[in-house]
Amino acid sequence: MIYLDNSATTYPKPDSVSGKVNRGMKISSNPGRSSHFMSMRAAQEIFSVRSKAKTFFGTESEENVIFCSGCTEALNTAIKGYIRSGSHVVVSDLEHNAVMRPLEKLKSIGVTCTRAKTEILDDDKTVDNFRKAINSKTVLIVCTQASNVWGIRLPVERLCALAHSYGIRIIVDAAQSAGVIPIDMRDGYDAVCIPGHKGLYGPMGVGMLLLPPEPQMDTIIEGGTGSSSLSLDQPEELPDRFESGTPNLPGIAGLGAGIDFVDKKGREKIFRHEMKLITELYDRLSHIPGIRLYTPEPDEEHFVPVLSFNAGDHDSEETAAYLSKKGIAVRAGLHCSPCAHEAMGTAGTGAVRISPSVFTVRNDIHKLVYHLKSFR
Ligand code: ALA
Repeated sequence: MIYLDNSATTYPKPDSVSGKVNRGMKISSNPGRSSHFMSMRAAQEIFSVRSKAKTFFGTESEENVIFCSGCTEALNTAIKGYIRSGSHVVVSDLEHNAVMRPLEKLKSIGVTCTRAKTEILDDDKTVDNFRKAINSKTVLIVCTQASNVWGIRLPVERLCALAHSYGIRIIVDAAQSAGVIPIDMRDGYDAVCIPGHKGLYGPMGVGMLLLPPEPQMDTIIEGGTGSSSLSLDQPEELPDRFESGTPNLPGIAGLGAGIDFVDKKGREKIFRHEMKLITELYDRLSHIPGIRLYTPEPDEEHFVPVLSFNAGDHDSEETAAYLSKKGIAVRAGLHCSPCAHEAMGTAGTGAVRISPSVFTVRNDIHKLVYHLKSFR
């Protein structure tokens, strides 16, 4: 099988990740709850992963790394934690439903939202579109670092500076970018939301919310933290404030091994490898009659290694089903990002998405192209 659906989740996972998940199962006593050696060992394991994440993403301390079930939970926590009733939010026109659905729900408390258009290859214009969308009620920008459908990168560093120049906050959805392109909390983000199971090669069901020192963010989940237990109020201290309940120790341990894997391979090297494959694919697809490409040729400055297209008049799901029969796994449809498809005019058909990983080789791309050539 040729697996080209790594934006949904990377596959395969490195052996070191499976090994660490297994070890996590073996040392699964409840961390931070008891003073016996097993609980301490579990707590140490979790702290060591916090420490890796701190170094990888530049958080001020280990405590600013919040473990959660994934990027969706991280986004919900940050969006609902920062927004107050009647607030206005600016988002890009390429956001995933993990951003759009929480905002839709918040409409019931008077939250309003404006979509700023992403101008492909023109960061100045994109930043300007965000600026124009800000009004006196705006409290927040929520923005993906890279579209999960089109691979288009957004200039999040500049949007962060823009947000702070207006005294508003910025949350970044790093679902398709973490482990692939850099993001550094020292740039001043108010929250960065990260899945463990994509570019960091960890298992599913674990992710991270990266926070600045002293975020003025409310909680959406409260519960036992193993700390300040006499008080019925949720603790103020990080990470406990946002980490109620027993953590996913096997998942977190596996995520730590994933971060080590990316670190050892070199994030930039992985990015270059995948971009090479995607640019070659783009070139080959552009020579096949009937293939519809929607974005300009991807370059390293403006894209992550994700490419979507359609074949003739076929519905994207038909193309994906044909490729699946040939042993090639891709994702079609709307990719949970209807806005990104509306922006490109593909909401009716969806698109076929190709997303390589560090394990993808040129021959995989050649086979994909070979089968697409004979698809009528
Ligand atoms: N959001 C993930 C994707 O883009 C699952 O496929």
